[in-house]
Amino acid sequence: MQNKTCKLSGPGGAVSELPLREGTLGPATLDIAALYKDQGIFTFDPGFVSTASCESKITYIDGERGVLLYRGYPIEQLAEKSSFLEVACLLLYGELPTKPQLDGFTDSIRRHSMVNEAVLRFFSGFHYDAHPMAMMTAVVGSLSAFYHDSTDIHNARHREIFAHRIIAKLPTLAAAVYRHSTGQPFMYPRNDLGYCANFLHMLFAVPAEPYHVNPVAAKALDLLFLLHADHEQNASTSTVRLAGSSGTNPYAAIAAGIACLWGPAHGGANEAVLNMLREIGDVKNIAKAIAKAKDKDSGFRLMGFGHRVYKNYDPRAKIIRATCHEVLEKLGRGDDPQLELAMRLEEIALKDEYFIEKKLYPNVDFYSGIIYRALGIPLHMMTVMFAVARTVGWVAHWQEMIADPHMKIGRPRQLYTGATQRDFVVIETRK
Ligand code: ACO
Repeated sequence: MQNKTCKLSGPGGAVSELPLREGTLGPATLDIAALYKDQGIFTFDPGFVSTASCESKITYIDGERGVLLYRGYPIEQLAEKSSFLEVACLLLYGELPTKPQLDGFTDSIRRHSMVNEAVLRFFSGFHYDAHPMAMMTAVVGSLSAFYHDSTDIHNARHREIFAHRIIAKLPTLAAAVYRHSTGQPFMYPRNDLGYCANFLHMLFAVPAEPYHVNPVAAKALDLLFLLHADHEQNASTSTVRLAGSSGTNPYAAIAAGIACLWGPAHGGANEAVLNMLREIGDVKNIAKAIAKAKDKDSGFRLMGFGHRVYKNYDPRAKIIRATCHEVLEKLGRGDDPQLELAMRLEEIALKDEYFIEKKLYPNVDFYSGIIYRALGIPLHMMTVMFAVARTVGWVAHWQEMIADPHMKIGRPRQLYTGATQRDFVVIETRK
């Protein structure tokens, strides 16, 4: 689908016919790949506000209407009827799995959940108070030192083994990060449990006594993971693609994504939301917080509000908000004052002219932290939870990119505004 073009007359007078490419959904995209060759000019778009960095078939977002589709399926339907591992299968392979396919996938994930004992020894090098995301970045990167015999990125079966391995091992490593920070022994995975139940077991069980996973907690975690599994070309996914485009070891590319996710403008926001709610403390302080968020000089933003793509309610936030009360109630945390505070804050902000005019709505992180806390996940582990879920999306995008025979290394250009050419001055004569 590519017969429309856009004419552009360059600074030298030559006219280029730039192909306007139509996707199956979303705005048309001007293909400028030949622009530099034809016109000798670059395009300038810091922050990629108007730039499609790649072609993809995985996830679609309509930010104006608040729509999110995984492989065409609305997130609301998946949240209601599917599960995290089924969605992982969908994102990786493109279609909803049949029962035998899902059973095979689930079994493979189960069987790859242990990590080499040498990886667990890396933890002894970390101080107990190291930030969990720092440890995650390091230990996931260290997986690149293993599995040499099955990490040929040009071999489709090897790519698949990598995908299963990393999705299976992330909860084990994330739990080890937590256990290291609390000084408790690592718990080995239990293959008789489901993905999320096993993760809760590794996080919270102790060898001294039996631990029963609360099925409500496992189901709530499964929903949060499903909602966080992918989000097209966000900063961390783009980081994984860019790192992977050099042909680097895929575990190292995922570690780069984890590093990117850590930032408060991205995956660190759920932690920041809870900190913000704690600081606001009471409904009577909301007006002051909103005034501060509107004051550019304050450096303060309403965390969990606003999104580069959504100029409407983030559909994931809508789902989490709707289930928040129910989950908290079932977990015996129905009277959580932070949930009441968050809901009141949202209500007031959504009526405020500043937030209306800038189309700032709650994003996925506004309510997710409240559920994570009710599950017993401490504040500093929240971005780690996001990393475990998003690994599925990172891997799906990495796979899509590497399998593309036209893949090129990502190598942006720049608008140079530094010094023009000048001659070196010896130190004795410098002023
Ligand atoms: N509180 C107050 N003002 C805000 C907020 C906010 N949370 N978000 C955006 N604005 C304002 C900006 O000051 C800016 O105002 P201006 O046009 O007068 O300068 C305008 O809205 C647009 O904001 P930008 O920062 O230009 O938008 P951008 O798309 O670059 O940023 C981002 C999006 C980073 C998510 C931003 O909204 C933000 O910082 N939100 C808070 C952090 C957060 O919740 N991050 C999680 C994102 S979702 C995720 O990664 C899972």
